[in-house]
Amino acid sequence: MTRALPTAASLYERVQRVIPSIEWPAFTGDIDAILALKRERNAVILAHNCQTPEIFHCVADIVGDSLALARKATAVDADIIVLAGVHFMAETAKLLNPGKTVLIPDLGAGCSLADSITASDVPLMRQRYPGAPIVTYVNTSAAVKAESDICCTSGNALAVVESLGAPRVIMLPDEYLARNIAAQTKVEIIAWKGHCEVHERFSPADIRELREAHPGVTVLAHPECPPEVVAEADFAGSTAAMSDYVGRHKPARVVLITECSMSDNVAVEHPDVDFVRPCNLCPHMKRITLAKIRAALEENRHMVTIDPGVADRARRALERMLAV
Ligand code: 13P
Repeated sequence: MTRALPTAASLYERVQRVIPSIEWPAFTGDIDAILALKRERNAVILAHNCQTPEIFHCVADIVGDSLALARKATAVDADIIVLAGVHFMAETAKLLNPGKTVLIPDLGAGCSLADSITASDVPLMRQRYPGAPIVTYVNTSAAVKAESDICCTSGNALAVVESLGAPRVIMLPDEYLARNIAAQTKVEIIAWKGHCEVHERFSPADIRELREAHPGVTVLAHPECPPEVVAEADFAGSTAAMSDYVGRHKPARVVLITECSMSDNVAVEHPDVDFVRPCNLCPHMKRITLAKIRAALEENRHMVTIDPGVADRARRALERMLAV
């Protein structure tokens, strides 16, 4: 027996704290269409924590940080995966599901970190620091991953670095993640100069002003923020780790130093927590909309393809990470 589909109308209760009722009618047609298309086409939607709440809470089947999306992608048994996130996340899902159709609703959903390094830069680092293993952040192209020894995400970077048993490790391309990890380990870390355009904009002065304006506020920061910002925070962790922190500690008032939609998505789950909401918008994440997800499912676009020579080596780096 097939279960009745939820309808947009029945989902509104879930998101009413973060989506004003005046905006909701603009979403309902696409939500109903997407719910029907997913069933028709045997498709699942994987959504990153930074997707807007009408995507994250109303049409996604699997949600999480980059690590959870990669892990959960390995267990998908649908024919089609739509990745509501940025391009490297869709490539990761394709690498881990080479036989499935993986769609990204907007090819322009990139990442400043992924753009900060090319595949030809990686062997140059290997030559410059002979013997040092190369740990590559998942926020990179498949071609860069293919030149690396192992991948990491912000959720497992410390564990990955320490799993290698090497005195010196190259971490590419996020300088701030590398420096934030270096502060937690005896392993010498060689960094690159890439930055996340969302997280690099936060400053220590922002945090101090927030604390002054909202006495007692708990400050959670993403490790892509500069180390000086992380030093002012109460906790630093991946988008999933920040969300878990709110669930575990139930702070009366909290601020998430990260992308804007995170607070909306976490606030839906925790109506008793007061969220202070200064944030920086990720223009790439925001390219993904309900209308584009619907078009992706209707027109099978945009299919993610990866050169097989690159894919095998990139997959090895990802699988090595998942085994840590
Ligand atoms: P997470 O792995 O913490 O979800 O971060 C991904 C990302 O790209 C944030 O900028």
